[in-house]
Amino acid sequence: MMSNAVLDTIAARRSHRAYQDTPVSQEHIDLMLKAFLESPSAVNKQPWHISVVRNQQLLDDMNAAIRAEVMKRTAADRSPRFEDNKFHVFYHAPLVFFLSADPTWRYAALDSGIAVQNIALAAESLGLGSVILGMPRDAFAGEKADEFKKALDFKAGEEFMIAIAVGHPADDKPAHSIQEGHISYID
Ligand SMILES: Cc1cc2nc3c(=O)[nH]c(=O)nc-3n(C[C@H](O)[C@H](O)[C@H](O)COP(=O)(O)O)c2cc1C
Repeated sequence: MMSNAVLDTIAARRSHRAYQDTPVSQEHIDLMLKAFLESPSAVNKQPWHISVVRNQQLLDDMNAAIRAEVMKRTAADRSPRFEDNKFHVFYHAPLVFFLSADPTWRYAALDSGIAVQNIALAAESLGLGSVILGMPRDAFAGEKADEFKKALDFKAGEEFMIAIAVGHPADDKPAHSIQEGHISYID
């Protein structure tokens, strides 16, 4: 089958859930931010804002707030990962990007999803690993929501869209299995 650098990068990407302590270089951060800013968006609105977080104390505080919020729900209504007390939403990654946007814009979530995938592929292409994170949403549901929005420099009216943890991976995992039946040809 034909291959090229882009297809190889897409095929090699995995969600990594363990990271080395090694920080991500500023050069690599700049390249991922460039890939983020080059993302397409509906009517070229570029509706997003990105927060580049290396402050581990803030990530620990958010992890605790998320756990507190999630544990209010039934076990069936939360990820089984939370049954492990040592589970950390950010997997102790040295770097986490948070994307925020005005949720009243109809394409805010879709554009943010596309942009976060650009970061994931850029990270992979640089020899880094990543995991896209929806769970941080719960940090913005609890009583510390405004505190976290301020700490992350969300702009007025913006809400959390998606996050992505990045670092040098310390795990190895196979590609996810491909489910059947998701393609229809209409000729
Ligand atoms: C929108 C979105 C949200 C996700 N949120 C989380 C998350 O909060 N925590 C996590 O460990 N993985 C999260 N993932 C990663 C998925 O679990 C992962 O992509 C999926 O299991 C397939 O595995 P792969 O990425 O290694 O191919 C998320 C992925 C997407 C696309």
